[in-house]
Amino acid sequence: MDTIHIRGRHRLNGTIPISGAKNAALPLMIASLLTDETLTLTNIPRLTDVRTLAKLLGVLGATVERSESANHAKLEGDTIALTTPEVVSTLAPYEIVSQIRATFWVLGPLLARCGTAKVSLPGGCAIGARPVDLYLKGLQKLGAAIDLEEGYVLASAPNGLKGAIIRSPIVSVGATHTLLMAATLAEGETVLENAAREPEITDLANCLVAMGAKITGIGTSTLRIQGVDKLHGATHRVVADRIEAGTYAVAAAMTGGDVFLDGVDPESFEAVLSVLRAAGANVEARLGGIRITRNGDKLQATNVVTQVFPGFPTDLQAQFMALMTIADGESEITETIFENRFMHVQELARFGANISLHGDKALVHGVERLTGAPVMASDLRASAALVIAALAAEGETTINRVYHLDRGFDRMEEKLSACGAEIWRVKA
Ligand code: UD1
Repeated sequence: MDTIHIRGRHRLNGTIPISGAKNAALPLMIASLLTDETLTLTNIPRLTDVRTLAKLLGVLGATVERSESANHAKLEGDTIALTTPEVVSTLAPYEIVSQIRATFWVLGPLLARCGTAKVSLPGGCAIGARPVDLYLKGLQKLGAAIDLEEGYVLASAPNGLKGAIIRSPIVSVGATHTLLMAATLAEGETVLENAAREPEITDLANCLVAMGAKITGIGTSTLRIQGVDKLHGATHRVVADRIEAGTYAVAAAMTGGDVFLDGVDPESFEAVLSVLRAAGANVEARLGGIRITRNGDKLQATNVVTQVFPGFPTDLQAQFMALMTIADGESEITETIFENRFMHVQELARFGANISLHGDKALVHGVERLTGAPVMASDLRASAALVIAALAAEGETTINRVYHLDRGFDRMEEKLSACGAEIWRVKA
């Protein structure tokens, strides 16, 4: 297995091009199953999750044509054209769905287009129980019959899905994506109440509209969908990755650097920027991106509570905790979305961080300095926290199990070394 090595204590200075969002690219690719015409997606990040999903879509009957952008300087993403003239299989097997959770979302489009689907219960990052009850209850409301058998969800709606009012008791990104896609081809009107309104949901909704779907309330927590008989092809650019941008913003603050995050919309992560300001970073929205700087001043301990959008994202909790390990004072970090998302704590301790856990809270007592260590990536975002800690630590860090990073960060070593980080990969 590959390892990543970082020799810390270099300030990050320069421009980091922000890639297309993984969490938007995946549902967008899945949306291609809703039509027999071609959906062309640009700004697709180079990630193993994208390749895994492409493999599954291929099994279901899609042809996936990928072309690389010529704009290497900006590390522009790829273009992929997805065409599924016919769904040749409605079975999403365990071997693929267990690798990334988002593949489970094919359930919505398969059911809407074919009236039947057999999809393995999902895998993904081990950050909590992550049930799928909201997806299944929502699809039942749309008229589907659901059974569970040997680790698979069997769903059928032989006479098609019927619009309904679905009020989710909690906000779920994946259930919103799945039900939104399913409702586009249902008969009549569907209302999704208490829907997630993450920018990636908005991106999917906008793409569906370009494909001929009728959706109002985009960007709000009530989505109204008038079902149509057929969707058609379209071309859509994947929104910039606010989690990747937030990760590099934290890295810039951590190293006392000066970094321009190119291509990201400040509004998509205002909650993160305001926490970074409170912690002592300077944040400047500029044309086409955001500049993050921190001069020699010490970082200030700052409390954070993870929330659904537009609150502070759980996907940046680990990275922010890494930042707080060297802040002045004690910060309290509360995780409200996933009950088991503190696996990075013991790895951060290996750098000399002082963190104690109290249920859904982590108390981080800032220390003077971190020192490099061999560490192990446990999940996607936790791995990014280890990179951030390593960038500020004295000496060398070796990060094992970097396949977690490759799932969600496009050309990370290239982007960081262009800004002065000493980071390299050793191939297994
Ligand atoms: C998505 C993101 C992930 C992010 C998360 C929260 C993708 C590919 N993944 O994951 O990066 O961390 O949103 O912003 O976009 N829940 C239930 N029952 C359900 C569904 C969810 O109880 O049927 C719970 C989950 O266990 C969790 C909470 O709802 O506690 C939120 O999860 P959800 O928003 O569904 O996360 P994902 O879509 O899995």
